[in-house]
Amino acid sequence: MNILLLGSGGREHALAWKIAQSSKCDRLFIAPGNAGTAQCGENVAIGVNEFDRLKDFAASQHIDMVVVGPEDPLVGGIYDAFKTDARTASIPVIGPSKEGARLEGSKDFAKAFMLRHHIPTARYATFDGTTIDQGLRFLETLQPPYVLKADGLAAGKGVLIVPTLDEARHELREMLGGMFGNASAKVVIEEFLSGIECSVFVLTDGRHYQILPEAKDYKRIGEHDTGLNTGGMGSVSPVPFADKAWMQKVEERIIRPTVSGLAEEGIDYKGFIFFGLINVKGEPMVIEYNCRMGDPETETVMLRLKSDIVDLFEGVANGQLDRHPVETDPRAAVCVMLVSGGYPQQYVKGYPITGLDQVEGSIVFHSGTATKDGQTVTNGGRVIAVSSYGKDKAEALQKSFQEAQKIQFKDKYFRKDIGADL
Ligand code: AMP
Ligand code: GLY
Repeated sequence: MNILLLGSGGREHALAWKIAQSSKCDRLFIAPGNAGTAQCGENVAIGVNEFDRLKDFAASQHIDMVVVGPEDPLVGGIYDAFKTDARTASIPVIGPSKEGARLEGSKDFAKAFMLRHHIPTARYATFDGTTIDQGLRFLETLQPPYVLKADGLAAGKGVLIVPTLDEARHELREMLGGMFGNASAKVVIEEFLSGIECSVFVLTDGRHYQILPEAKDYKRIGEHDTGLNTGGMGSVSPVPFADKAWMQKVEERIIRPTVSGLAEEGIDYKGFIFFGLINVKGEPMVIEYNCRMGDPETETVMLRLKSDIVDLFEGVANGQLDRHPVETDPRAAVCVMLVSGGYPQQYVKGYPITGLDQVEGSIVFHSGTATKDGQTVTNGGRVIAVSSYGKDKAEALQKSFQEAQKIQFKDKYFRKDIGADL
């Protein structure tokens, strides 16, 4: 098969690494890819939102399957764009329809969906410019801290958690006033939930599902979860509290009603569902849905997925995913993200990266890199994910930290406490 993978981050390098191992994959193209994905297949200089160019490429290069990494093209309707064009209608796209991607693209849609299907989540209400006064009154019914979420996609920055009612009132006005542009034209206000988070992933063909290894990611820039939010500073799989009993609750109360709810509502969904969960006194609740894999969770989940991922994708495409079981590697996997100094605020791109060829026994996934004059250089905030196996988490972490020392670029930073809270 010829496969076209969309995206350019660490998630896509990990997906490319896994897809390239499949005996079913003949040629792998990555659009636009990065310096790491170029080691797994052929990079193609087309952006993930250039649907016409992607369709031209898929049709002319005899692409048999498209795998979508990031949320942006999914929320923008790439699935539908391929399906409604005679040249590409028969090419399976792994990723939901535009309607299905609203699970991530609209927090209000996701919350209302959960309410309709009795899926455990925080109590909430949604407000817009015409209902600010009701929003201000709703805030008074909640306990601090206050959680305010832009309804639409805001590059991972659309959630504010503020300690006082005054700040919450102020932020609500700011958000509805255009703080995140059109994405915050509607704001979801919800109850704050206290607990440890866990990311659970499934692949679904719209009727059946298979559960992939779970993972925990580390979002804050500083050690012990301090400082600003980032795209993710590392991840660990498995997650100790996600034991059999807990995962059974997740499956019964959350996964099954989500997949059957999508089917009942006639929503076309063939792809990944990412359940952002929180463990509240032993009970799983949904913080958010994403319509794609997580980053940097994919950089550990792919290590623990033993099954052929292209075989699973075929099951998704032909509606027979129940015949394609997921096999999991019993070892632990971790990933430590090396980031640019200054990230998630101002940082400089283009610094040469050295030592990549010195790494032994860990798997290096490129997150934000590019090739310049034959040299791999930094090209983003998150630069390199160092992923490792171990007989347990401690052994895997020791390995990643050891190998992380060998990779050098100016102002490199990483968290040394990944996995320490579990
Ligand atoms: P989201 O973009 O919805 O994942 O929110 C970003 C982060 O904010 C989550 O990963 C949580 O750490 C936190 N968060 C979101 N909603 C809540 C909530 N209701 N209670 C506590 N923390 C939350
Ligand atoms: N790691 C969280 C995300 O991918 O959104």
